[in-house]
Amino acid sequence: MSARGDQPRTPVLRQEYRPPAWWVDHVELDFDLDAAETRVISRISVRRNPEVDSEPLTLSGANLDTRRVEIDGESVPFEERSGDEALVVENVPDRAVVTVEVLIHPDRNTALEGLYRSGAMLLTQCEAEGFRKITWFPDRPDVMATYRVRLAGDRQRFPVLLSNGNCVEDGELEDGRHFAVWDDPFPKPSYLFAIVAGELDVLEDTFTTQSGREVKLKIYSEPENITQLDHAMDSLKRSMAWDEERFGLEYDLDVFHVVATHDFNMGAMENKSLNIFNARYVLADRETATDADYEGIESVIAHEYFHNWTGNRVTCRDWFQLTLKEGLTVYRDQEFTSDQRSRGVKRIQDVSALMARQFPEDDGPMAHPIRPERYVEINNFYTATVYEKGAQVVRMYETLLGRDGFRRGMDLYFERFDGQAVTCDDFRRAMADANDTDLEQFERWYRQVGTPTLEADTRFDDDSGELVLTLKQHLSDHRDNRNLGALMIPVKVGFLDADNRPLPVTLAGESESGPNTRLLVLTDSEAEFRFSGLSADALPSLLRDFSAPVKLEFDWSSRDLARLAGFDPDPFSRWRAMRGLSERVLGDWIEGREDHDADLLVEAWAAVLDDSDRDPALAAELLSLPSEGELAQDRSPVDVDAIHAARKKLVQLLGRQLEMRLLERFEALAPSGDWSADGPDAARRRLRNVALGLLAAGGSDGADQLASKHYEQADNMTDRLAAFRILTHNELEGGDRALADFEQRFADNPLVMDKWFTVQATRADASAVDDVHRLMDHSAFRLNNPNKVRSLIGAFAMGNPVAFHRADGAGYRLVGEVLNQLDDFNPQVGARLATTFNRWGAYDDKRAAMMKEQLQKLADKKGLSPHIEEIVTAALKDRSGG
Ligand code: TRP
Ligand code: ZN
Repeated sequence: MSARGDQPRTPVLRQEYRPPAWWVDHVELDFDLDAAETRVISRISVRRNPEVDSEPLTLSGANLDTRRVEIDGESVPFEERSGDEALVVENVPDRAVVTVEVLIHPDRNTALEGLYRSGAMLLTQCEAEGFRKITWFPDRPDVMATYRVRLAGDRQRFPVLLSNGNCVEDGELEDGRHFAVWDDPFPKPSYLFAIVAGELDVLEDTFTTQSGREVKLKIYSEPENITQLDHAMDSLKRSMAWDEERFGLEYDLDVFHVVATHDFNMGAMENKSLNIFNARYVLADRETATDADYEGIESVIAHEYFHNWTGNRVTCRDWFQLTLKEGLTVYRDQEFTSDQRSRGVKRIQDVSALMARQFPEDDGPMAHPIRPERYVEINNFYTATVYEKGAQVVRMYETLLGRDGFRRGMDLYFERFDGQAVTCDDFRRAMADANDTDLEQFERWYRQVGTPTLEADTRFDDDSGELVLTLKQHLSDHRDNRNLGALMIPVKVGFLDADNRPLPVTLAGESESGPNTRLLVLTDSEAEFRFSGLSADALPSLLRDFSAPVKLEFDWSSRDLARLAGFDPDPFSRWRAMRGLSERVLGDWIEGREDHDADLLVEAWAAVLDDSDRDPALAAELLSLPSEGELAQDRSPVDVDAIHAARKKLVQLLGRQLEMRLLERFEALAPSGDWSADGPDAARRRLRNVALGLLAAGGSDGADQLASKHYEQADNMTDRLAAFRILTHNELEGGDRALADFEQRFADNPLVMDKWFTVQATRADASAVDDVHRLMDHSAFRLNNPNKVRSLIGAFAMGNPVAFHRADGAGYRLVGEVLNQLDDFNPQVGARLATTFNRWGAYDDKRAAMMKEQLQKLADKKGLSPHIEEIVTAALKDRSGG
């Protein structure tokens, strides 16, 4: 770690990128595996880069016990430069083999980065800068090499030995030990290196590629979970077929591995041919996984598989380019799910998640462009902005260029850059060149900070008989936006007539009538678009399909919102209109005004219920309300209690007024045949559970019995968990029984116990703080397991505003105390949790002071990790509260 005083750490700047002074062509690694102490010998073939000024070979490393350094077999003295964890080797010839021997200690590695232990298994996580915890290396993504890896260890303890590429040799050694040699022919950056060693069972299958090659597929888990791998395997095969069909991309090695682990900092990791997954994105069966889990597994399996081309074959030049692989790969996994399931529903879910999770980032102290300009700790930039907003930016290329144009751009991107480490600009130019178009202005999307606003206005021009739409754009006033100029914003628009039928959209001067949805492109800060053939009362539907990641401002009447919610042909627009309407009612109540629109909302919901047979999944989306967190987003000061009361009142009102319909739906949606995880069945379960939730909230007579029965008769986790949550959150009769039953039924299943923790952590009552305290002592809870931290503490801090913001500060103290501990052993996970204090300045003085106190305590902590320090410092600097 760099020396710490009162000096803030110096950030790395995007503009300061320099090519490496040394290339590495080939790496040989030799592991002598042991949980307490592993010996690593590396032989790296280095070559001076003639294109940069001569510099000594400088390698990165962290927590390494260095035993020897040799150049071409000759032992040399070495100097570990203290402070920045660098090893400088002088007098290396222009080409040489540098050998380094180190000892590392997986057992002591609580940060879960580098080589660490999970249960009986040893495994690695190297992205972004974890390889330097394994050996000395130029640990940066533009240094790409082929790897040959020899793993040796006790056969009993580590019967399975895996690394990237193909197994080229294995055999027995003395003393009950054995070894395996793996060879990866594709040059890769060190962050894609991986090994796994342990006692694992495997599910095997094969996939035949479009060119007729047979690929072995192997998914590994602990032996007791071997029956829960079928869905992951099925998802993998569908992903492989989809990438061939949609993008012409075929898998390139003879084997593809997936390994599930319970100790993992994030969702999953795309190591070349050896994907490592958080078990929650692999294991599934009817009794233990919800429909949402099934969908999550499918999309994460797809995401990591898709990285093989977008990330691995073409990788990032430096970490500022992270969105090059992540934004693009999220876009690809979103498209995969859209093609597998319902495109409209998927779009709503993705945008809804963006608004809930990314908009606050854009508004907060760590706001950054999808391609950041500076960072202290790169792990803090694996954000919703880089991933989800980045995916929206990629989607805009498709919107602007069309599906075929986008494909041409992708083809050219791979043609130009296969095997290279490149930049977002390289991607953008491939898109432009393949389509013979200019996308220079589009680059501003990679530099702008915050969510832009799109202001729209319509008027009827009596003289010309044209409807005039004015669009204006504004960027947030972040200093990095100064002098940026206007963005290129694709805006899809349509209109409804007085009978709510779609109208053709024809631009003034066109002779033929246009399509019902029209793409406009705003390239100036303000522009007018004129339409012919529309009457003054045509109802505009703007930003259909969320064609750009902006906040839209348009003055719809509540009645018009209800019309759009009911009749817009674009599912996303229906959802946004319904949201707009409920936000209006809630806003009135939160601010203590008379409401005008509650009846309209009830009517609109009734219509959705009546029509819900056609698309139950869409109906479930339409019948959702903004969370308390979302309602807090644009308010300052945030009145936690008023928001909670208003939302509760609305759920109650809807439950009561729609009681008969909801009961009818609940009965009608009862399963008719055998359980299946398929989309249509999952959609029915989803809507049915929404109905039950509303009935319970509305205090419907008999809701307790209904929920208890639903719990007891559930033959799948979706229904059982929904019933358990409804019983607990509404404090219904039977809740205690379900709580105890759930715990006892699933005591042995850590993933299901995570759900049990979350339900309790998110009960909207001040006493939930005490529950969380108590649950931290539960035998199934471990603070050193990221899934546990997220399911109990993370869920509490992010999903339970009433308790987290408890007036006496007990919620803040709890999270502050956990952060203090996490900082010592897993700063990556800690830093994420620390962002829950980001908006401290937006709360009333008393709460603001108490939140600030927790931040200040952390800032003052001796030896605070750079991860948490970066978050906390930014938050403390930000008085506005976003
Ligand atoms: N690259 C991974 C993905 O998006 C995520 C990732 C980055 C990650 N750093 C990590 C996963 C550290 C686990 C731990 O698919
Ligand atoms: Zn990814």
